[in-house]
Amino acid sequence: MINGTTKVVGIIGNPVGHSFSPAMFNAAFKSMNMNYVYVPFKVEKENLKYAIRGAKAFGIQGLNVTIPHKQKVINELDKFDIMANLIGAVNTIKFKEGKSKGYNTDCVGAVRAIKEVSDLKDKNVVIVGAGGAARAISFQLAIEGVNSINMINRSPKKAKSLIYDIKTLLSADFTDNSKLDELTIDFSHIDITFKYGSLDELPKSLADADILIDTTPVGMHPNLNDEPIATYDIMHSDLIVNDIVYNPLETNLLKEAKKIGATIIYGTKMLLYQGAENFKIWTGEEAPLDIMEKSILNSIK
Ligand SMILES: NC(=O)c1ccc[n+]([C@@H]2O[C@H](COP(=O)([O-])OP(=O)(O)OC[C@H]3O[C@@H](n4cnc5c(N)ncnc54)[C@H](OP(=O)(O)O)[C@@H]3O)[C@@H](O)[C@H]2O)c1
Repeated sequence: MINGTTKVVGIIGNPVGHSFSPAMFNAAFKSMNMNYVYVPFKVEKENLKYAIRGAKAFGIQGLNVTIPHKQKVINELDKFDIMANLIGAVNTIKFKEGKSKGYNTDCVGAVRAIKEVSDLKDKNVVIVGAGGAARAISFQLAIEGVNSINMINRSPKKAKSLIYDIKTLLSADFTDNSKLDELTIDFSHIDITFKYGSLDELPKSLADADILIDTTPVGMHPNLNDEPIATYDIMHSDLIVNDIVYNPLETNLLKEAKKIGATIIYGTKMLLYQGAENFKIWTGEEAPLDIMEKSILNSIK
């Protein structure tokens, strides 16, 4: 029941009506008897700065940030963490004592989902796609110590430029960036080979890969009949296949992976674990994972 001491968190974006987050977080707060409410706020591009100032003025505890504000919001924040700085995008904000701090939790969400089924050290990873999700996941994989990332994209030029960007940032010096809260990650141990290529090169690249992550929207609702980016005949049974599309739960790519006996990871896991990270940032508590996962699966149904 909302009352005078209810704490407010929410999501800003445009659109926000389709988001699974209100149901997921409100179920989590209810299950833990926490006096919080999670609200979707549709914010037009030109109102972003007023939304952040308004959130501070209203004493809002935290916000998720989605399309189209993930990059632009950085300019409106007082501080951000190292991953948000590297990725150049914020998906979570915490407000405290009149100050705002931005985080990117997409990266930890995706990687926690993979670590549940495999160690990442020295693994060879193929990422299909070179957009925002590929960028976030690549930085985290590099930090986790994978041996190589081969980025395969419809437009290989885009993959080349993203890899150049990632390599440059991983060796950059951020000590003069006053908006960075603290430098919590040591990059000196990172020793990784980056490659890139076009979709034609996917069969060859999968032959010696340990992990395939599809970060394209191929197969996402309502395009359920899209040809998957890979079929079973170019995969192998030791491969781990993660499609980050979460609606439908089992995409055509994951169906193909199952045919060859590969280990599959649903896109819902990334959503769940980034949500759990946000929950911890806002409340300081461990998230009720089972309740949150149930809510995501209900939303998909
Ligand atoms: N599970 C989760 O929690 C989670 C979190 C974030 C995102 N996602 C999902 O991840 C997907 C990508 O998000 P994003 O922010 O990275 O998007 P993005 O920045 O637009 O990047 C999309 C990438 O996919 C490629 N692509 C698009 N359509 C394609 C097609 N038909 N065939 C081959 N490649 C195609 C694009 O290639 P070009 O470069 O050639 O255009 C681009 O590299 C979305 O479906 C989103 O819902 C899931």
